[in-house]
Amino acid sequence: MPDMLVRLWKLDYAALRQKTAEIERTGGVRIVRPLSPDFVRVRAFIQKEFGDGWASEAEASLYHDPVGCFIAVDAKNQLIGFACCNATCKGFFGPTGVVKKRRGEGIGSALLWRCMEALWEQDFAYAVIGGAGPVEYYSKSVGATVIEDSSPGIYSRRF
Ligand SMILES: CC(C)(COP(=O)(O)OP(=O)(O)OC[C@H]1O[C@@H](n2cnc3c(N)ncnc32)[C@H](O)[C@@H]1OP(=O)(O)O)[C@@H](O)C(=O)NCCC(=O)NCCS
Repeated sequence: MPDMLVRLWKLDYAALRQKTAEIERTGGVRIVRPLSPDFVRVRAFIQKEFGDGWASEAEASLYHDPVGCFIAVDAKNQLIGFACCNATCKGFFGPTGVVKKRRGEGIGSALLWRCMEALWEQDFAYAVIGGAGPVEYYSKSVGATVIEDSSPGIYSRRF
């Protein structure tokens, strides 16, 4: 899986915020940066739904300043998705995931856009999507392009 490059300077954040508000309104969802009292719950959700590796990466992003994790919460205050930035490397996006029954409603894109804006606010001009699985999805949602010779990339250091 290759890494992908996002041109943060090229994104229209005002337009993305409007699209996010529409996704939130339609789906009865809130995209928020979690507060520390919820960190244990956020980690447990990611571990249960997506496994140890992603929970571990997300945990790193939770304890950064500013917090590099965003979550999607439904009308019943249940966690339904998450996305991280600055987790494994500075300027990196990922991991991210939305529970199966809520996919295809724009929630993953809204989480991704929020992370892109967070990186932009931290003076990154580009973001790297680390080990991008759904390449077409990232290309469509944020105009990301595949970085040549980027696989296995930083993840080759894993044991
Ligand atoms: C990737 C993911 C977070 C997207 O979340 P989502 O809420 O379904 O995304 P959105 O609703 O904003 O966007 C869905 C669009 O992306 C497309 N898409 C989603 N996964 C895709 C994939 N693997 N390949 C190609 N396109 C994909 C959908 O077809 C849809 O396209 P449409 O808008 O034309 O209908 C979600 O599918 C997921 O949790 N996948 C499993 C975990 C994963 O692969 N994470 C990414 C690791 S880098």
